[in-house]
Amino acid sequence: MRFSGKVAFITGGAMGFGRAFAKALGKEGASICVADIDIPTAEQTVKDLTASGIKAIAVNCDVGSNDAVQAAVRRAIAELGGIDILINNAGKHLTRFSRPFIEQPVEQLRLLFEVNMMGLIYCTLACRETMKARGGGSIVNISSISSYFSLNPYGVSKLAVRGLTSAFAGELGPDGTRVNAIAPGLMATEAAMEDQPKEKIDRFVNELQHIKRLGTMDDVVSTLLFLCSKEASFITGETIRVSGGYPYGI
Ligand SMILES: NC(=O)c1ccc[n+]([C@@H]2O[C@H](COP(=O)([O-])OP(=O)(O)OC[C@H]3O[C@@H](n4cnc5c(N)ncnc54)[C@H](O)[C@@H]3O)[C@@H](O)[C@H]2O)c1
Repeated sequence: MRFSGKVAFITGGAMGFGRAFAKALGKEGASICVADIDIPTAEQTVKDLTASGIKAIAVNCDVGSNDAVQAAVRRAIAELGGIDILINNAGKHLTRFSRPFIEQPVEQLRLLFEVNMMGLIYCTLACRETMKARGGGSIVNISSISSYFSLNPYGVSKLAVRGLTSAFAGELGPDGTRVNAIAPGLMATEAAMEDQPKEKIDRFVNELQHIKRLGTMDDVVSTLLFLCSKEASFITGETIRVSGGYPYGI
């Protein structure tokens, strides 16, 4: 087991990618802190993890609030002993956040950037000391292929995730902490499938990707496990696209 004795703090861990990351890291021996705003779903996820022999807790954590993040990280350290792996996964991402700036209410834009950008900053800063004290950790940030176009607020927020990945890789490298990102393409999470019309999904797969099948959570999970593992010990500041080849050549 690659992560025995390690503790992973996963934002947005209640469902979707976050839940899949929690299961996969837990199966490989990590203890899991599911940090989410949806506590009933987070508690159900923890119940499922515990039933399969994984040590896990749920903490109420709105990543857009620095106070909430500080409190959640303190609780994870108190109950699980420290943090070695941080997955900055919580994000606002549905179609309404991809509309032009001029069409979105400013409060919605503020929410998007508070969660997708400031949330990553708060969590990274809050976990820094415990990771350093444990000999260095691994942070994986979830960006998006939309960041390669940055044609709308969501894409800009995910471009910021890539920029923050580079900046924190430099700042935390001396602590022994690596910081990388994954930019998933269109993936078959429940939220994405409900949000996108079927014709758009088919066009995406058949006309835009090199690999003509819909991406799955397993595609992203295997990349995440690699980035967290010792096999990636000389990799930091990178963003890996997991998108069936789209967008090519950028
Ligand atoms: N699904 C895709 O196709 C896709 C593609 C590219 C990138 N992404 C990115 O992957 C990440 C996860 O996507 P998903 O499809 O699993 O989403 P999802 O909507 O299924 O799950 C998101 C989770 O984050 C939680 N959350 C929302 N706001 C939060 C906050 N302020 N603080 C803490 N938790 C919060 C939700 O309660 C939920 O449990 C997002 O950052 C998204 O932008 C998804």
